[in-house]
Amino acid sequence: MTRLSGKTAIVTGGAVGIGRACVERMAGEGAQVAIFDLLASEGEALARDLKAQGHKVAFWKVDVSDEAGVKAAIDAAAHHFGGLSILVNNAGISGSPKPTDQVTEDEWDRVQAVNVKGVYFATKHAIPHLRQAKGGSIVNLSSIAGLIGVGNLAPYHASKGAVRLMTKNDAITYASEGIRVNSIHPGYIWTPMVENHLRATAPDLEAAKAAAGSVHPIGHMGEPDDIAWAAVFLASDEAKFITGAELAVDGGYTAR
Ligand SMILES: NC(=O)c1ccc[n+]([C@@H]2O[C@H](COP(=O)([O-])OP(=O)(O)OC[C@H]3O[C@@H](n4cnc5c(N)ncnc54)[C@H](O)[C@@H]3O)[C@@H](O)[C@H]2O)c1
Repeated sequence: MTRLSGKTAIVTGGAVGIGRACVERMAGEGAQVAIFDLLASEGEALARDLKAQGHKVAFWKVDVSDEAGVKAAIDAAAHHFGGLSILVNNAGISGSPKPTDQVTEDEWDRVQAVNVKGVYFATKHAIPHLRQAKGGSIVNLSSIAGLIGVGNLAPYHASKGAVRLMTKNDAITYASEGIRVNSIHPGYIWTPMVENHLRATAPDLEAAKAAAGSVHPIGHMGEPDDIAWAAVFLASDEAKFITGAELAVDGGYTAR
């Protein structure tokens, strides 16, 4: 319960899904946590519930694709909690599933704006605070789609491949300052993103859920906590010699 005590974390996209699990597990391990999300009512309710349990958690309404908004919220969160030591770049969108020749430029740009620029903006404006803290940990949510092709999701693949290599670039850039940067590559995790994706692509949700689960050698989808515990580990001092790593948490999907 104390793996992150004394640390302050920002989790982008922390209101639901994987981000919410990261917020809950990090707070449970003693971190102060800032939730950044577009979903104000869900984010505020989560902060309220965790505060009622004795944790130090606060919510900021942030669009990660808006640089000025990201900088203002990061500065405000660091001021509120007295510093910053962990950034989880989790906010992301999948875009609409379709073949590359049918993707519009606007659809392409929105996915890159959230998934790639969002990681860049938050990293850029967190670094001065991590530097001030004389070190820290950045955990970037890439995907199995940043490692291998799945199909019919070109903007998402491009964005998650970019996050994978931004991670390695930043790991090298900031290693000498004690700032570690790693990526997590989830397989299918049962969250609103995956539910919406399956609802949009398959007529029978339960059949689609079972089919999506069966592509993992372990035989089923993961749950948000499977990713949150990996994020807790990478954020903690247990991972103090790990930087630039890509951690697949995918039930064996990419082991083939
Ligand atoms: N669920 C999976 O199977 C899976 C697999 C691989 C990678 N991932 C990645 O993990 C991350 C979280 O995925 P999830 O399944 O929990 O997604 P989700 O859609 O369930 O939740 C994403 C959260 O991010 C927020 N968000 C979206 N755009 C935002 C923006 N512009 N600014 C601020 N917040 C924004 C949403 O409001 C939501 O709270 C994403 O980066 C996703 O690509 C998910």
